[in-house]
Amino acid sequence: MAESDPKIAKARCPGPSYTDMLKADTRPAPDYLLTESNLPLTNEPLSTQAYVSPAFKADEDEKMWPNVWQFAAREEDFPEPGDTVVYEIGDKSFLLVRQRDYSIRAFYNACLHRGRKLRTECGPATQLRCPFHGFTWNNDGSLKEIPGDWDFEHLQSKDMSLPELRVECWQGFVLITENHDLPSFREWIGPGVEHFDNWRLEECHTAAWVGKVIPANWKVVAEAFMEAWHSIVTHPQILGFTADANTRYDLYGDHMNRAITASAALSPHLKGKDQQYVIESLAKFTGGAGDARSRRGGIEATQELHGFDADDPWLARKLLAKGNREAFQAQNGHDYSRYTDSEMLDNFTYNVFPNWSPWGGMAPNIVYRWRPWHDTDNCLMEVRILIRTPVGEKAPKSQPMRLVPEGEPFAAASDLIGAALAGVFDQDMANLPHVQTGMKASKTQRLELGAYQESRIRHFQNTLQKYLSGTLPAKK
Ligand code: FES
Ligand SMILES: [Fe+2]
Repeated sequence: MAESDPKIAKARCPGPSYTDMLKADTRPAPDYLLTESNLPLTNEPLSTQAYVSPAFKADEDEKMWPNVWQFAAREEDFPEPGDTVVYEIGDKSFLLVRQRDYSIRAFYNACLHRGRKLRTECGPATQLRCPFHGFTWNNDGSLKEIPGDWDFEHLQSKDMSLPELRVECWQGFVLITENHDLPSFREWIGPGVEHFDNWRLEECHTAAWVGKVIPANWKVVAEAFMEAWHSIVTHPQILGFTADANTRYDLYGDHMNRAITASAALSPHLKGKDQQYVIESLAKFTGGAGDARSRRGGIEATQELHGFDADDPWLARKLLAKGNREAFQAQNGHDYSRYTDSEMLDNFTYNVFPNWSPWGGMAPNIVYRWRPWHDTDNCLMEVRILIRTPVGEKAPKSQPMRLVPEGEPFAAASDLIGAALAGVFDQDMANLPHVQTGMKASKTQRLELGAYQESRIRHFQNTLQKYLSGTLPAKK
C-alpha cells in the first residue's frame, strides 16, 4: 500500500541477519560494518516516465549531470605525462590529460574554432591539435598555435585556453565535474566515504575492463544492481553460497548507499543444507579456481578443516575467509590479517550517485559504471575488476575497455571477467531490455518498490528528484 509519510522500513527477512554473521566473525567487527544506516522514505509508486521519456532525459542532462562529480577514469588508465583519456557520456565528451607534474587536467573535448572533437581516442599526446584546420593547444590547455593567424586578429590568445572542468582523485578514481561550486568530492559523497579508507582502492589497478551497450535506460540497468532479492529467480545458481534475502541495505546522505550481501552463507530460501553444501556450491560456481581475478581465490585452502568447529553454523565463512587471506597474501604480499571474514568474502556493493558502484572490502573489487548512451533507451554498462598491486610494484597501465560486440553476451568476455561472473550478468541482461519495453507497455505507468530491499532504488530516485527540482546541487 502506498503511503505519503516517510518512514523507516522495519521489516526484515526472517532468520539470521548480516549483523549476526558479523558477531560470529573471527575478527572483531568494526563500527563501519556493524552500524546500520536507514533513512525515512515513502512507499509512493515511481513513474515509468523517469526511464522512458525523452523530456525526462533532457531534464537530467540539463540539471543533474553537469552538477555532480562523475567517475571519468582510473589513474592507471593514463599514468604518464601526455597520456590522455577521452571520457564520453551521452552527447558530452571530455578530454583528460596527464600533466608533466603528474597532476590531471580535464577539458571540454571540442575545438574552439568550429567545434570538432579534439581527440576521439585515448592515448599519448605531445600537444592537442585539432585534425580539421590545426588549431593547437598545449597539454595544459593554453593556446599554442592558430594556423593562418593573420585571419584571426580578433582573437586574443589569453582568451583561447581550453575551458576546464574540476578534477579530484579519490582511491585511484579520477572524478570530474562541470560545476565549479560543488563541495570537494569527499565532502560531497557524504558519511560513507571513510569506509573506503580501510580498503585503499588506490592500492589496486584495473585487471579487466569490459563494456556492453544494453538496450535499456541507464537507471534500469543501474537499479538491477541495487538489490539482491532478484537472485532467487534470476540467479538461482548462487543461492547455495549467497545470503541474498538477508542482504543489509544502508543509506548515507544523498550520494552514497550500500548493499552488503554475505557470501559463503546459505540463502534464507534454502533449508536443510549443511556447511559442506555451501562450500561445494561455491566451488561449483567458480570452477574451484583460485584465480587472482576471481573474488573467490583460495578455495582449495578451504578443504583444510583443522582448528574449526565442525558444528559451527558459519564454518564455511571462516574457512573461505582464511583461504582468501592466505591466497591473496601469497598473490600480492599485502597483509590481510586484520580484516574481518566479512571483508575477505562478502559483496560490498556501494553506489555513488549517480551512476557508479565501487565495491568495498578486500576481495578483488568490482566497479560498475552505467553511462547514458545517446538516447533514453540505451546505456553502456561497464565492469572493471580491480586487483591489489603486489607490494613494491608499480600498477600496470590499464588495458583499454573491451566492448562486447552488439548481439553477443558478456560470456564473450569470459577470458577477462571469468565465466561465472559473465553468466550472472547475462542472466541480468536477459531481463533488462524487457523492463525497458515493458515499462512502455504498462497500463498503470507505475512501479512499486519493496520498502527495505529496494530502499537503495528509492534513495537514488529521491536524490535524482532533488537535482531536477533544484534542491541540489549543494554549494561549497
Ligand atoms: S574545427 Fe578545429 S581547427 Fe577548425
Ligand atoms: Fe542480478
